[in-house]
Amino acid sequence: MSQNPKVDVSQPEFDQDDVASNPSKLPSLAQVIELRLSRREALGGMLASVAATSLPSNLFASTLDSEKQGASTLTFEEIDRTLTPHHRVSPGHQAQVLIRWGDRVFADAPLYDPLNLDGASQVRQFGYNNDFIAFMPLPLGSDNSTRGLLCVSHEYTKSALMFDQFTHRLEMTSQQVDVEMMAHGQTIIEIQLVDGDWETVLDGKFNRRITALTPTIISGPAAGHPRMRTTDDSTGRQCLGTINNCAGGFTPWGTVLIAEENFNYYFDGDRTKTSEADHLTRYGIPSTLYNWSDFHDRFHLEKEPHEPNRFGWVVEIDPYDPDSTPIKRTALGRCKHEGATVVINHDGRIVVYSGDDQRYEYVYKFVSTGAYNAENREANRHLLDDGILYVAKFLEDGTCEWKPLVWGQGPLTAENGFHNQGDVLISTRQSADLLGATPMDRPEDVEPNPVTGKVYVMLTKNPSRTEERIDMANPRAINRFGHIIELVPPEGGKSKRPDHAAPTFHWNIFLQAGDPDQPEHEAIYHPDVSRNGWLVNPDNAAFDNKGRLWIASDQGEMQAKNGIADGMWACDTQGDGRALTKMFFACPIGAEMCGPCFTPDGTTMFLAVQHPGEEGGEKPSTFADPATRWPDFKDGVPPRPSVVAVRRDDGGEIGG
Ligand code: FEO
Ligand code: CA
Ligand code: CA
Ligand code: CA
Repeated sequence: MSQNPKVDVSQPEFDQDDVASNPSKLPSLAQVIELRLSRREALGGMLASVAATSLPSNLFASTLDSEKQGASTLTFEEIDRTLTPHHRVSPGHQAQVLIRWGDRVFADAPLYDPLNLDGASQVRQFGYNNDFIAFMPLPLGSDNSTRGLLCVSHEYTKSALMFDQFTHRLEMTSQQVDVEMMAHGQTIIEIQLVDGDWETVLDGKFNRRITALTPTIISGPAAGHPRMRTTDDSTGRQCLGTINNCAGGFTPWGTVLIAEENFNYYFDGDRTKTSEADHLTRYGIPSTLYNWSDFHDRFHLEKEPHEPNRFGWVVEIDPYDPDSTPIKRTALGRCKHEGATVVINHDGRIVVYSGDDQRYEYVYKFVSTGAYNAENREANRHLLDDGILYVAKFLEDGTCEWKPLVWGQGPLTAENGFHNQGDVLISTRQSADLLGATPMDRPEDVEPNPVTGKVYVMLTKNPSRTEERIDMANPRAINRFGHIIELVPPEGGKSKRPDHAAPTFHWNIFLQAGDPDQPEHEAIYHPDVSRNGWLVNPDNAAFDNKGRLWIASDQGEMQAKNGIADGMWACDTQGDGRALTKMFFACPIGAEMCGPCFTPDGTTMFLAVQHPGEEGGEKPSTFADPATRWPDFKDGVPPRPSVVAVRRDDGGEIGG
C-alpha cells in the first residue's frame, strides 16, 4: 500500500463524493456582504409576490407561480416514506423485479450461486449496483414499448455484501477482484412484455456485458495525447474497460452514453512520486477503495501515472451492434461525470448536459459542431468528437454564462500549462477553475424537459458549504438536503424553440429540498406539499411524455439517521402543480433510487434499486447479516441490486 493519505476505511459507509478536491479561493469579504444582501432581497421578494415580479431576469419569479394553490396533474396516490426492508409503490401499480445482480444475461450463463462467485460466471451475469437505465426499442428506430434492449450501468461493487469470504475491501483476493471487475460496466439485454409482465430474452442476439476489462477506443481531441499513453497502450487510443458508470444518457441515433463517475476509487500509489502530482490532487486521486492495483499494475500510479487520465470520460456504446467497441468521447470533458443527457438543438446540433458530482464542482454542456442527421445513422457516428465544451457560471442577476473550454482562448494557454486542446480536456476541472465556473452543491443529473425545453440540475447536497462560500445558486450553508435549479435557455432562430447552444441562459431555483415544516431547513416547494411529498437529496431524474419531472433520491449515509426511505417523487414543472412533489415509490432499506426510465409510450417505468441493504443503521450490514435480503428474502442469499418494472394495473400511462 502507498504512503498517500487514504480515506478512513474503518468507516465502511464513507461517501467519497462528499470530500471536496476543489481548492478554489474563498470570495472576498465585500463579495460575501454583497451576496448576503442580494440573497436577502431575493428571498424577501419571493415572499412579497408583487415586488418579486419586478426582480431582474425573473429570479424566483417562477416559484411565485407555485404559490397559487392548485392540484398536481399527477393522478397517482401518494405513499408514505417509511423505511422498510421491502420496496413499495403507489396503489394501483405493480412493481415487478425484472433482473437482479447475478441473473443470467445469456442462455448458457451459470445460475447465480452466492457461495461460489467467480469472474467467468459474473461476466455472463447481470452486474452489481445498477444505476442508469436506457430502454432502446426493438427494432432500431421504432418506438416499440413492448420489446427492446434494457441497457443498464453498473456503478460499483459492495464486496462486504457480495462475498461470504469477505475480509477487508483492500485485501480482496485475485478471484474476488475478478468478480468485482466483471460486475462493473454495463449490461445490454433484450426484454419483452408478455401478458403485462416483462421478461428477459436470454437468447437475444444483442445481449452483452461490458466490464472493467472490455477493450474501448479513446477518440476526440485527447486521443493519442502523450498524457494518455501507458505501457500497455503506446498509442493513447485504447483503454481496457469502463468503471463507476453512474447515470448516463442516450442519443437520437440509438446509442447509449455511460458516464464514468468516481474513478478515483480504483487507484493506489503515491502521487507525489509521479509527474502528475498536482493534476491527480485536483481529481482526488488516489482515494483507494479497491485493491485492484495489487493484481493490475495499471491501477498503481507510480507504475502507470497516465492511466487515471484514461478514465472520467463519457463512453458511447452502440447497443444494436454487439461487436461494436465502446468509445470514450474526450470532447465531452473529463470529470466525475454523473450522467450525459442529450437534446437535439433547434438547429440540429447535439447538446449534452453533464454534472461533475463532487462538492464544489461544476455543471457542463457540450455543443456539437455538426448537426444530427435523422436520415443517415452512420453520419452521426462521430458527432460527439467535434464540438465545444462549456462550463456554467451562475451570476447573481439570474443569468447563467456558459464559458467555453477552448485551448488558446482566455486563460487556457501555454502560460497556464495548456499546450493543446487535449490538455484542456484531460484537465477539465483545472480549465473550468480558470474560467471562473461556479462551484456547486454536487451536481448529479442534468435533465432537459422535452416539453418546455427548460433544463433541471439536481444538486444533491453539500454539507461542507460554509456561510462564506454561499452564492445565489447555492444559497444554503451546510446544505444537507440539496436543491434543484431550473435553467431557461433563450429562444433560438426563427423557430423560437429553446436554444440549448446559447452562451447565456437564465436560471432560478425550482425547489429547495428539506422539510417545509422546519423553518431552519429553508425548504421551498409548492405550499401544498404533503408530509410524504417533501424529499431530500435529489439525484437521478427523468421526464415523462407530459413534461413532468420524476426525481430519484439518494440520502447516502444519512438514510438511517433520517429514518426515511429513498425513492421516487414526481411533480409538475409548470402550472398550478409546479414543484408539488409527491412520493411514488419507496426503496428497501439501504438502497438509493436510480434509473428512472420510461418506455416510449410511458406505460412502464424502469427503476434501478441500487445497493439495497448497504446501510442498516446501528450495526454493519454484511453478507451473513444484511439489513435486508431484498428482493429474494431467502436465507443465505444477500440483498441484490435489481431493476424493477413499474406498470399501472390498468396498463395506462404512469402518472396519468
Ligand atoms: Fe453515482 Fe453521483 O451518483
Ligand atoms: Ca450512486
Ligand atoms: Ca447519482
Ligand atoms: Ca448520489
